[in-house]
Amino acid sequence: MKLGLALPTMQNGWVISHTSPKFSPDWSLIKHAALTAEAYDFDFLLSTVQLVGFAGPTKHFHETADSFAIMAGLAAVTERLMLYGSIATLTTPPPLAAKQAQTISDISGGRFGLNIVSGLEKGMYSQMGIWPGDHHFSTRYDHATEYATIVRELWETGRSDFTGQYFQMDGCHLGPTPKHPIEIVCAGQSDRGTQFCAEFGDYQLAIGKLDPDEMRQWNDRLQKATAAAGRRCGMHALYTIVLRDTDAEAEEAIEDWRSNQDYETVAGLAGREYGDGDDAATKNIYYNSDTFMLSFPTIAGSAETVAEKLRALGAVEGVSGILMTFQDYRTDVERFGKEVVPLLRS
Ligand SMILES: Cc1cc2nc3c(=O)[nH]c(=O)nc-3n(C[C@H](O)[C@H](O)[C@H](O)COP(=O)(O)O)c2cc1C
Repeated sequence: MKLGLALPTMQNGWVISHTSPKFSPDWSLIKHAALTAEAYDFDFLLSTVQLVGFAGPTKHFHETADSFAIMAGLAAVTERLMLYGSIATLTTPPPLAAKQAQTISDISGGRFGLNIVSGLEKGMYSQMGIWPGDHHFSTRYDHATEYATIVRELWETGRSDFTGQYFQMDGCHLGPTPKHPIEIVCAGQSDRGTQFCAEFGDYQLAIGKLDPDEMRQWNDRLQKATAAAGRRCGMHALYTIVLRDTDAEAEEAIEDWRSNQDYETVAGLAGREYGDGDDAATKNIYYNSDTFMLSFPTIAGSAETVAEKLRALGAVEGVSGILMTFQDYRTDVERFGKEVVPLLRS
Protein backbone atom coordinates (compact mmCIF):
# COMPACT_ATOMS: atom_id res chain seq x y z
CA MET A 1 0.00 0.00 0.00
CA LYS A 2 1.49 3.30 -1.10
CA LEU A 3 1.23 6.24 1.28
CA GLY A 4 0.64 9.69 -0.15
CA LEU A 5 0.51 13.21 1.23
CA ALA A 6 -1.70 16.00 -0.07
CA LEU A 7 0.64 18.98 0.30
CA PRO A 8 -0.35 22.19 2.10
CA THR A 9 -0.56 24.19 -1.12
CA MET A 10 -3.87 25.88 -0.25
CA GLN A 11 -4.31 28.25 2.67
CA ASN A 12 -5.57 26.53 5.86
CA GLY A 13 -5.97 23.17 4.18
CA TRP A 14 -8.95 20.92 4.61
CA VAL A 15 -10.76 22.12 7.73
CA ILE A 16 -12.87 25.28 7.54
CA SER A 17 -12.96 26.39 11.14
CA HIS A 18 -11.88 29.28 13.32
CA THR A 19 -10.02 26.93 15.66
CA SER A 20 -8.29 24.59 13.20
CA PRO A 21 -4.60 25.17 12.40
CA LYS A 22 -3.96 28.08 10.08
CA PHE A 23 -1.19 28.32 7.52
CA SER A 24 -0.10 30.06 4.37
CA PRO A 25 1.06 27.82 1.54
CA ASP A 26 4.67 28.98 1.77
CA TRP A 27 7.52 27.13 0.13
CA SER A 28 9.21 26.60 3.52
CA LEU A 29 6.14 24.82 4.93
CA ILE A 30 5.56 22.78 1.78
CA LYS A 31 9.19 21.76 1.57
CA HIS A 32 9.24 20.81 5.26
CA ALA A 33 6.13 18.65 4.82
CA ALA A 34 7.56 16.99 1.71
CA LEU A 35 10.96 16.22 3.25
CA THR A 36 9.27 14.89 6.38
CA ALA A 37 7.11 12.61 4.24
CA GLU A 38 10.18 11.39 2.41
CA ALA A 39 12.04 10.74 5.67
CA TYR A 40 9.11 8.73 7.03
CA ASP A 41 8.69 6.39 4.07
CA PHE A 42 5.77 7.99 2.26
CA ASP A 43 5.57 7.11 -1.44
CA PHE A 44 3.99 10.09 -3.19
CA LEU A 45 2.98 13.73 -2.93
CA LEU A 46 0.08 15.59 -4.54
CA SER A 47 -0.04 19.33 -5.11
CA THR A 48 -3.42 20.66 -6.18
CA VAL A 49 -4.34 23.50 -8.51
CA GLN A 50 -6.65 26.09 -6.98
CA LEU A 51 -6.97 29.64 -8.25
CA VAL A 52 -9.79 31.19 -6.26
CA GLY A 53 -10.46 31.27 -2.53
CA PHE A 54 -13.44 31.96 -0.30
CA ALA A 55 -14.35 35.40 0.95
CA GLY A 56 -15.31 34.23 4.47
CA PRO A 57 -13.50 35.30 7.64
CA THR A 58 -10.97 32.45 7.72
CA LYS A 59 -9.83 33.30 4.16
CA HIS A 60 -9.98 29.66 3.20
CA PHE A 61 -7.93 28.81 0.08
CA HIS A 62 -7.35 32.54 -0.35
CA GLU A 63 -3.66 31.96 -0.90
CA THR A 64 -2.44 29.07 -3.00
CA ALA A 65 0.86 27.93 -4.43
CA ASP A 66 1.37 27.09 -8.09
CA SER A 67 1.20 23.33 -8.44
CA PHE A 68 3.86 22.84 -11.13
CA ALA A 69 6.29 25.37 -9.68
CA ILE A 70 6.08 23.63 -6.30
CA MET A 71 6.73 20.25 -7.88
CA ALA A 72 9.70 21.59 -9.85
CA GLY A 73 11.16 22.83 -6.54
CA LEU A 74 10.43 19.54 -4.79
CA ALA A 75 11.84 17.59 -7.72
CA ALA A 76 15.18 19.18 -6.95
CA VAL A 77 15.16 18.64 -3.17
CA THR A 78 13.57 15.19 -2.83
CA GLU A 79 15.13 11.95 -3.97
CA ARG A 80 12.59 9.18 -3.90
CA LEU A 81 9.00 10.41 -3.72
CA MET A 82 6.66 10.32 -6.70
CA LEU A 83 5.39 13.86 -7.37
CA TYR A 84 1.93 14.45 -8.79
CA GLY A 85 1.36 18.01 -9.99
CA SER A 86 -2.07 19.20 -11.13
CA ILE A 87 -3.05 20.88 -14.37
CA ALA A 88 -6.41 22.52 -14.96
CA THR A 89 -7.11 21.77 -18.62
CA LEU A 90 -8.85 25.11 -19.21
CA THR A 91 -5.86 27.18 -18.13
CA THR A 92 -3.00 25.70 -20.09
CA PRO A 93 -2.78 24.45 -23.69
CA PRO A 94 -1.89 20.74 -23.78
CA PRO A 95 1.51 21.18 -25.50
CA LEU A 96 2.59 23.56 -22.75
CA ALA A 97 1.45 21.14 -20.02
CA ALA A 98 3.27 18.34 -21.83
CA LYS A 99 6.43 20.48 -21.91
CA GLN A 100 6.21 21.51 -18.25
CA ALA A 101 5.62 17.91 -17.20
CA GLN A 102 8.55 16.72 -19.31
CA THR A 103 10.81 19.33 -17.72
CA ILE A 104 9.79 18.47 -14.15
CA SER A 105 10.11 14.78 -14.98
CA ASP A 106 13.67 15.50 -16.09
CA ILE A 107 14.50 17.49 -12.94
CA SER A 108 13.13 14.68 -10.78
CA GLY A 109 14.73 11.82 -12.65
CA GLY A 110 11.38 10.39 -13.74
CA ARG A 111 9.34 10.91 -10.57
CA PHE A 112 6.72 13.29 -11.95
CA GLY A 113 3.10 12.46 -12.74
CA LEU A 114 0.28 14.64 -14.05
CA ASN A 115 -3.06 15.09 -12.26
CA ILE A 116 -5.53 16.16 -14.95
CA VAL A 117 -8.29 18.42 -13.61
CA SER A 118 -11.18 18.69 -16.03
CA GLY A 119 -12.63 21.87 -14.49
CA LEU A 120 -15.71 21.72 -12.31
CA GLU A 121 -15.22 24.95 -10.36
CA LYS A 122 -16.70 27.60 -12.63
CA GLY A 123 -15.59 30.52 -10.44
CA MET A 124 -11.94 29.56 -10.74
CA TYR A 125 -12.14 30.15 -14.49
CA SER A 126 -14.84 32.81 -14.86
CA GLN A 127 -12.82 35.24 -12.66
CA MET A 128 -10.20 35.29 -15.42
CA GLY A 129 -12.61 35.16 -18.33
CA ILE A 130 -11.80 31.65 -19.52
CA TRP A 131 -14.94 29.71 -18.56
CA PRO A 132 -16.13 28.32 -21.90
CA GLY A 133 -19.81 28.32 -20.91
CA ASP A 134 -21.95 26.04 -18.77
CA HIS A 135 -21.92 23.31 -21.42
CA HIS A 136 -18.45 22.58 -20.01
CA PHE A 137 -20.09 20.96 -16.97
CA SER A 138 -21.28 18.12 -19.20
CA THR A 139 -18.50 18.09 -21.82
CA ARG A 140 -15.45 18.57 -19.57
CA TYR A 141 -14.28 14.96 -19.78
CA ASP A 142 -14.65 15.00 -23.59
CA HIS A 143 -12.44 18.09 -23.51
CA ALA A 144 -10.04 16.35 -21.09
CA THR A 145 -9.97 13.28 -23.34
CA GLU A 146 -8.75 15.34 -26.29
CA TYR A 147 -6.31 17.11 -23.97
CA ALA A 148 -4.83 13.90 -22.62
CA THR A 149 -4.65 12.37 -26.10
CA ILE A 150 -2.48 15.27 -27.29
CA VAL A 151 -0.29 15.26 -24.20
CA ARG A 152 0.30 11.53 -24.51
CA GLU A 153 1.00 11.76 -28.26
CA LEU A 154 3.56 14.51 -27.67
CA TRP A 155 5.29 12.58 -24.89
CA GLU A 156 5.41 9.40 -26.95
CA THR A 157 6.30 10.75 -30.40
CA GLY A 158 7.28 14.41 -29.99
CA ARG A 159 4.59 15.44 -32.49
CA SER A 160 0.84 15.84 -32.66
CA ASP A 161 -1.49 16.56 -35.56
CA PHE A 162 -4.56 15.81 -33.50
CA THR A 163 -7.70 17.54 -34.75
CA GLY A 164 -10.78 17.34 -32.58
CA GLN A 165 -13.71 19.39 -31.38
CA TYR A 166 -11.71 21.38 -28.83
CA PHE A 167 -8.11 21.27 -30.03
CA GLN A 168 -6.44 21.43 -33.42
CA MET A 169 -2.72 20.68 -33.58
CA ASP A 170 -0.75 21.46 -36.69
CA GLY A 171 2.57 19.63 -36.70
CA CYS A 172 2.84 20.45 -32.99
CA HIS A 173 6.33 19.70 -31.69
CA LEU A 174 7.65 18.60 -28.31
CA GLY A 175 11.35 18.19 -27.82
CA PRO A 176 12.88 16.55 -25.99
CA THR A 177 10.38 13.81 -25.29
CA PRO A 178 10.47 12.54 -21.69
CA LYS A 179 13.28 10.14 -20.82
CA HIS A 180 10.97 8.34 -18.39
CA PRO A 181 7.28 7.46 -18.65
CA ILE A 182 5.09 10.14 -17.05
CA GLU A 183 2.12 8.79 -15.12
CA ILE A 184 -1.34 10.31 -15.43
CA VAL A 185 -3.73 10.49 -12.49
CA CYS A 186 -7.18 12.03 -12.23
CA ALA A 187 -9.53 12.69 -9.34
CA GLY A 188 -12.79 12.29 -11.24
CA GLN A 189 -15.44 10.69 -9.03
CA SER A 190 -18.39 10.63 -11.44
CA ASP A 191 -18.99 7.73 -13.82
CA ARG A 192 -17.66 9.84 -16.68
CA GLY A 193 -14.65 10.93 -14.61
CA THR A 194 -13.99 7.29 -13.69
CA GLN A 195 -14.17 6.31 -17.36
CA PHE A 196 -11.56 8.98 -18.09
CA CYS A 197 -9.32 7.55 -15.34
CA ALA A 198 -9.78 4.08 -16.81
CA GLU A 199 -8.85 5.24 -20.31
CA PHE A 200 -5.86 7.44 -19.43
CA GLY A 201 -4.95 7.06 -15.78
CA ASP A 202 -2.37 5.06 -13.92
CA TYR A 203 -4.29 5.88 -10.73
CA GLN A 204 -7.66 7.32 -9.85
CA LEU A 205 -7.50 9.64 -6.83
CA ALA A 206 -10.78 8.57 -5.28
CA ILE A 207 -12.55 9.99 -2.27
CA GLY A 208 -12.26 7.01 0.06
CA LYS A 209 -15.03 5.09 1.81
CA LEU A 210 -14.75 4.30 5.50
CA ASP A 211 -16.33 0.88 5.19
CA PRO A 212 -14.09 -1.69 3.43
CA ASP A 213 -17.14 -3.31 1.76
CA GLU A 214 -18.23 0.02 0.31
CA MET A 215 -14.65 0.61 -0.74
CA ARG A 216 -14.69 -2.71 -2.58
CA GLN A 217 -17.84 -1.70 -4.50
CA TRP A 218 -16.40 1.73 -5.24
CA ASN A 219 -13.33 0.10 -6.68
CA ASP A 220 -15.36 -2.39 -8.74
CA ARG A 221 -16.69 0.48 -10.84
CA LEU A 222 -13.14 1.52 -11.73
CA GLN A 223 -12.04 -2.03 -12.41
CA LYS A 224 -14.99 -2.64 -14.75
CA ALA A 225 -14.17 0.56 -16.64
CA THR A 226 -10.45 -0.31 -16.90
CA ALA A 227 -11.28 -3.81 -18.11
CA ALA A 228 -13.51 -2.29 -20.81
CA ALA A 229 -10.65 0.01 -21.79
CA GLY A 230 -8.20 -2.90 -21.83
CA ARG A 231 -5.95 -1.15 -19.33
CA ARG A 232 -4.94 -1.21 -15.68
CA CYS A 233 -5.53 1.65 -13.26
CA GLY A 234 -4.98 1.66 -9.50
CA MET A 235 -6.95 3.59 -6.92
CA HIS A 236 -5.37 5.89 -4.38
CA ALA A 237 -8.07 6.61 -1.80
CA LEU A 238 -8.27 9.97 -0.06
CA TYR A 239 -8.74 10.33 3.73
CA THR A 240 -8.33 13.08 6.28
CA ILE A 241 -6.26 11.90 9.23
CA VAL A 242 -6.78 13.27 12.73
CA LEU A 243 -4.17 11.70 14.99
CA ARG A 244 -4.13 12.19 18.77
CA ASP A 245 -3.00 10.27 21.88
CA THR A 246 -6.43 8.72 22.27
CA ASP A 247 -9.55 8.20 20.17
CA ALA A 248 -11.46 10.50 22.52
CA GLU A 249 -8.97 13.32 22.04
CA ALA A 250 -9.22 13.00 18.26
CA GLU A 251 -13.01 13.20 18.45
CA GLU A 252 -12.75 16.20 20.77
CA ALA A 253 -10.53 18.01 18.26
CA ILE A 254 -13.07 17.44 15.49
CA GLU A 255 -15.93 18.56 17.75
CA ASP A 256 -14.06 21.74 18.55
CA TRP A 257 -13.57 22.52 14.84
CA ARG A 258 -17.21 21.64 14.20
CA SER A 259 -18.46 23.99 16.93
CA ASN A 260 -16.26 26.78 15.68
CA GLN A 261 -16.65 26.19 11.96
CA ASP A 262 -16.56 29.20 9.66
CA TYR A 263 -20.24 29.08 8.73
CA GLU A 264 -19.94 31.87 6.23
CA THR A 265 -17.43 29.94 4.15
CA VAL A 266 -19.10 26.57 4.70
CA ALA A 267 -22.45 27.93 3.53
CA GLY A 268 -20.83 29.56 0.51
CA LEU A 269 -19.06 26.33 -0.36
CA ALA A 270 -22.37 24.53 -0.30
CA GLY A 271 -23.92 27.21 -2.51
CA ARG A 272 -26.01 28.88 0.20
CA GLU A 273 -26.14 32.58 1.03
CA TYR A 274 -25.18 33.44 4.59
CA GLY A 275 -26.70 36.83 4.99
CA ASP A 276 -28.84 38.85 7.38
CA GLY A 277 -31.36 36.71 9.20
CA ASP A 278 -29.97 33.47 7.85
CA ASP A 279 -27.35 32.78 10.52
CA ALA A 280 -29.40 30.46 12.72
CA ALA A 281 -30.78 28.48 9.79
CA THR A 282 -27.33 28.06 8.33
CA LYS A 283 -25.94 26.86 11.64
CA ASN A 284 -28.78 24.35 11.95
CA ILE A 285 -28.07 22.97 8.52
CA TYR A 286 -24.31 22.74 8.71
CA TYR A 287 -23.54 22.01 12.35
CA ASN A 288 -24.14 18.29 11.85
CA SER A 289 -22.84 18.05 8.31
CA ASP A 290 -19.18 17.47 7.57
CA THR A 291 -18.98 20.23 4.98
CA PHE A 292 -16.55 22.04 7.32
CA MET A 293 -14.12 19.16 6.66
CA LEU A 294 -14.98 19.26 2.95
CA SER A 295 -16.96 16.05 3.56
CA PHE A 296 -13.77 14.05 3.19
CA PRO A 297 -13.88 10.68 4.97
CA THR A 298 -12.05 11.14 8.26
CA ILE A 299 -9.98 8.59 10.12
CA ALA A 300 -9.54 9.85 13.66
CA GLY A 301 -7.99 8.35 16.75
CA SER A 302 -4.84 7.05 18.37
CA ALA A 303 -1.99 5.70 16.26
CA GLU A 304 -3.27 2.15 16.76
CA THR A 305 -6.81 3.04 15.69
CA VAL A 306 -5.65 4.98 12.64
CA ALA A 307 -3.26 2.20 11.59
CA GLU A 308 -5.89 -0.48 12.03
CA LYS A 309 -8.45 1.36 9.91
CA LEU A 310 -5.95 2.23 7.21
CA ARG A 311 -4.69 -1.34 7.09
CA ALA A 312 -8.23 -2.67 6.55
CA LEU A 313 -8.94 -0.13 3.80
CA GLY A 314 -5.56 -0.61 2.14
CA ALA A 315 -6.17 -4.35 2.03
CA VAL A 316 -9.21 -3.97 -0.22
CA GLU A 317 -8.36 -5.42 -3.61
CA GLY A 318 -7.62 -2.71 -6.14
CA VAL A 319 -6.74 -0.07 -3.52
CA SER A 320 -3.19 0.82 -4.46
CA GLY A 321 -2.59 3.62 -2.02
CA ILE A 322 -3.90 5.99 0.62
CA LEU A 323 -3.72 9.73 0.00
CA MET A 324 -3.87 11.75 3.22
CA THR A 325 -4.63 15.26 4.30
CA PHE A 326 -3.60 16.58 7.74
CA GLN A 327 -4.31 19.79 9.63
CA ASP A 328 -1.09 21.15 11.09
CA TYR A 329 1.54 20.32 8.50
CA ARG A 330 4.28 21.62 10.82
CA THR A 331 3.76 18.64 13.14
CA ASP A 332 1.15 16.15 11.90
CA VAL A 333 3.16 14.51 9.10
CA GLU A 334 6.05 13.79 11.43
CA ARG A 335 3.76 12.43 14.09
CA PHE A 336 2.07 10.14 11.58
CA GLY A 337 5.47 9.07 10.31
CA LYS A 338 6.76 8.25 13.78
CA GLU A 339 3.66 6.62 15.22
CA VAL A 340 1.57 5.16 12.40
CA VAL A 341 3.94 4.33 9.54
CA PRO A 342 5.87 1.73 11.61
CA LEU A 343 2.58 0.04 12.50
CA LEU A 344 1.51 0.00 8.85
CA ARG A 345 4.84 -1.25 7.58
CA SER A 346 5.30 -3.96 10.22
C1 LIG B 1 -7.78 13.98 -4.39
C2 LIG B 1 -8.45 15.03 -5.20
C3 LIG B 1 -7.67 15.99 -5.83
C4 LIG B 1 -8.27 16.98 -6.61
N1 LIG B 1 -7.49 17.96 -7.14
C5 LIG B 1 -8.09 19.02 -7.73
C6 LIG B 1 -7.33 20.15 -8.11
O1 LIG B 1 -6.12 20.19 -7.94
N2 LIG B 1 -7.98 21.20 -8.65
C7 LIG B 1 -9.34 21.20 -8.87
O2 LIG B 1 -9.87 22.19 -9.35
N3 LIG B 1 -10.08 20.11 -8.57
C8 LIG B 1 -9.49 19.05 -7.98
N4 LIG B 1 -10.25 17.97 -7.61
C9 LIG B 1 -11.60 17.81 -8.14
C10 LIG B 1 -11.61 16.68 -9.17
O3 LIG B 1 -10.75 16.96 -10.26
C11 LIG B 1 -13.02 16.33 -9.68
O4 LIG B 1 -13.53 17.33 -10.52
C12 LIG B 1 -13.99 16.11 -8.54
O5 LIG B 1 -13.48 15.10 -7.69
C13 LIG B 1 -15.38 15.69 -9.02
O6 LIG B 1 -15.35 14.55 -9.85
P1 LIG B 1 -15.96 14.64 -11.31
O7 LIG B 1 -15.15 15.64 -12.06
O8 LIG B 1 -15.85 13.26 -11.91
O9 LIG B 1 -17.39 15.06 -11.17
C14 LIG B 1 -9.67 16.98 -6.81
C15 LIG B 1 -10.45 16.03 -6.16
C16 LIG B 1 -9.87 15.06 -5.37
C17 LIG B 1 -10.73 14.04 -4.69
